[in-house]
Order: sequence, then structure tokens, then C-alpha cells
Amino acid sequence: MSLSLSAEQPAVPADADDGVWLECIDCGATFAPFEDVRYTCDDCDGLLEVRYADHPTFDDFEGRGVWRYADALPLSEGVTAQEGATPLYEVPRLEESIGVQAVRIKHEGMNPTGSFKDRGMTVGVAVATELGVDRLACASTGNTSAALAAYGSRGGMETLVLLPAGKVAAGKVAQASLHGARILEVDGNFDACLDIVQDLAQQGEAYLLNSLNPFRLEGQKTIGLEILEAFREDYDAFPDRIVLPVGNAGNTAALYKAFRELVQAGALAESEVPKLTGVQAEGAAPMVEAVENGADEVRRWDDVETRATAIRIGNPVNAPKALPGIRETGGTAVAVSDAAITEAQRDLASEGVGVEPASAASVAGLRKLRAEGIVDDDERVACLTTGHLLKDPDAAAAAGSDPEPVPAETDGVLDHVQN
Ligand SMILES: Cc1ncc(COP(=O)(O)O)c(C=O)c1O
Ligand SMILES: [Zn+2]
Repeated sequence: MSLSLSAEQPAVPADADDGVWLECIDCGATFAPFEDVRYTCDDCDGLLEVRYADHPTFDDFEGRGVWRYADALPLSEGVTAQEGATPLYEVPRLEESIGVQAVRIKHEGMNPTGSFKDRGMTVGVAVATELGVDRLACASTGNTSAALAAYGSRGGMETLVLLPAGKVAAGKVAQASLHGARILEVDGNFDACLDIVQDLAQQGEAYLLNSLNPFRLEGQKTIGLEILEAFREDYDAFPDRIVLPVGNAGNTAALYKAFRELVQAGALAESEVPKLTGVQAEGAAPMVEAVENGADEVRRWDDVETRATAIRIGNPVNAPKALPGIRETGGTAVAVSDAAITEAQRDLASEGVGVEPASAASVAGLRKLRAEGIVDDDERVACLTTGHLLKDPDAAAAAGSDPEPVPAETDGVLDHVQN
């Protein structure tokens, strides 16, 4: 398996540019990184990965945010809005009730546009600039469109976003709109939107910035690098497990790649690699199905439904990169109900951490796996929360308590509060 933790460092091909190239994960074909626009392998249509002649160790990183990790990225600077360096919150009550040694919440909702997508976009839009393209496009369940609109406008480029009509949370549409994207509402689900954007990209009409784009995943590796650095600082040990919501499985693929590169650099022992644990909503769980069946391929689900609209995805494009990550790290995947997601959203909120529904899936998944005894009580766990509460104000209001009408005078208010 080419994506194994113990893979040898590949030989540098002639088409590398300053020690960086693209390589097909299926057939091993290599390509120059910045000469032509390319998302998949010319020879076999397999997924591409960015490869490097050498990998940095923790000592090589300096600065703050995504670009602290420039030595692990394909370019040394990007179109930036100071993304990354997100908080790793302590949640003592949650930790106690789940019953593990440590739970920390890596809150990606604290990025500039309120989700982890900013980490991928700062790199992806920089590569778009390097390639000289002027129109950017994505399909999106919402957060990608918000990030693309913001980073595209910062980079002075035109942006097109295709959204499943009626299935995107209000905050995200508002962001894409104000940052100046053209919003195209498709009468179909996310997977149909992505099919269309891939067609447009193949026809050269736009540069695709979904997580099928291998450069975006490079930026998202930094989530894993930050978690590892913070755990080492706080506990003098890396986390035993990282639990994350899964849609297209981009983060699962990106974190696994970050770990493989650290192992190759000698900065992380194979035995120290955190168990990658993916969580999906029951109504959109093709990755969980594949992991449970021990399948090498994921079956596309045509009908998907969940309140966690950000992960309402039936055809996870990064599955060929993510499945080996879950297996090789000794992790797993689990499906949770919408009710459990809302409960976890409330639990997080009660400790002051405001997240959107998809994000809370990680905590719901950890709770379920702990109850099933799959997660041990001595584990130190990082849960990824991928987007901010305000992304989906309707879901937050529905999960929270209702406003109470009171009269416009103090005694009346006091009377109401005391009853
Ligand atoms: C809030 C949120 N969580 C999770 C995901 C899924 O991430 P991935 O595609 O990396 O699995 C997305 C994006 O689709 C998202 O917006
Ligand atoms: Zn190939």
C-alpha cells in the first residue's frame, strides 16, 4: 500500500519544482506541480498527492498559524487572513462525563471565516495565483463557499460557488454573498454540485478548490501539526486519538498525510501516531459502511439526509486517501444520530464552546465509542469541531432555549425571573 505509515521516502522525479511534485496514489505517475492545472492523474484518473524531497521536524517550524508550517507546504507564503492557531479548549465536565483521561476541543470555528476551510484556501488560492488562473469555483455544503469567497476576493479573483438549493445554513450563504461570490443554487444534493464543478474544471472554465484539489489538503495538514505540538507541550505526549466529523474525508486524509510525513522525518514514532476516528451522521454514512465492511472502496449513497448539513455528503471523494489512514492508525469510523449530534452541540455550548451541528458529531461519536468500550478510559483524545455556532443560527436556536417575553419594567422582569 503506497499510503502506509512505513512507506519509504520516494525518489525525487525530474519534474519536481524546488523539491515539490504531484504523484498519483494509484499508479505512481508524477507531474510538475505548478505548470498545468491538474486535479487527478492523467494516466489512471487516481487521486494526486503533493510530495516533497524532504520533510521538516517540529524544530523547523516558526511563527504562528498555517504559515508557521511553511516548510511542510508547497509554497512559502499565501493569500492569508491569519488562519490557523485555533484554540484547543479544555472541557472538564465533558471529559468527566465521557470518562477518558483527557478530552480537548480543537475549535476550527475560530478561523477567519469560521471553519477549517480557511487553512486549505490560504494554500489553494496561493497555488491558483502561481498557476495564473483567474476564476475559482467550488461545490459546497456551505463552509467551502464562504472560505473560497473570502480568500478569492482577497486574492482579487472571481469566484463561483455551487450550492444544493435549500440545504445550506444561512450564515454560510450570507458569507459567500457578501464576499462577492456568484452563488449558483443547484436543484440537487452536494454530490451533484461537485459533479458539475468537476465538469467545469475539466473544460477549463474554472479552477476547482474542493478538497479533491491536492493543494488544499496541504493547508489542512496544519490542524494535525497544531494538535500534536499542543499535546506535546501540555502532556509531554501526543494524543492517543483524534476524532473528527467526516464529509468528503479531506481532513481525515490531510491529518494522515501530516502524520506520515512526520514519521518519514523521524519526528514521530509509528507507535505514537494518533488513531484517526471518523464520525458521520447516520443518514450520510458511506465511510462508516466501508470501514465496518472492511471494504477498500466506498459505495456512493444517492439519498443522504441529516440536520448536520455540512456533512450531508454521499460520495466522499477523498476516501481512497482516508480509508488507509483510519486503518493504518488503528482508528475506526462511527455513525451518530441527529439527536445525539444536537445533544453534543448542547454539551459543548454548556462549556462555552459554540459549534455548528456537523462539528458536534465528533463529540457525539466519542461518547458513543466510549460507551461501547472501543475508546479506553486512559486515552487522551482531541475532538475536532470544524465550524462555528453562528454558521447555522437556525440549528442553534432550535437546540437552545426560547426567548421569554417580559414587560418593559424592572418589577415585571424580576417577577418573571423569580417564577
Ligand atoms: C463544518 C464541517 N465539518 C466537516 C466537514 C467535512 O469535512 P471533510 O470533507 O474534510 O470530511 C465540512 C465540509 O464539508 C464542514 O463544513
Ligand atoms: Zn495514476
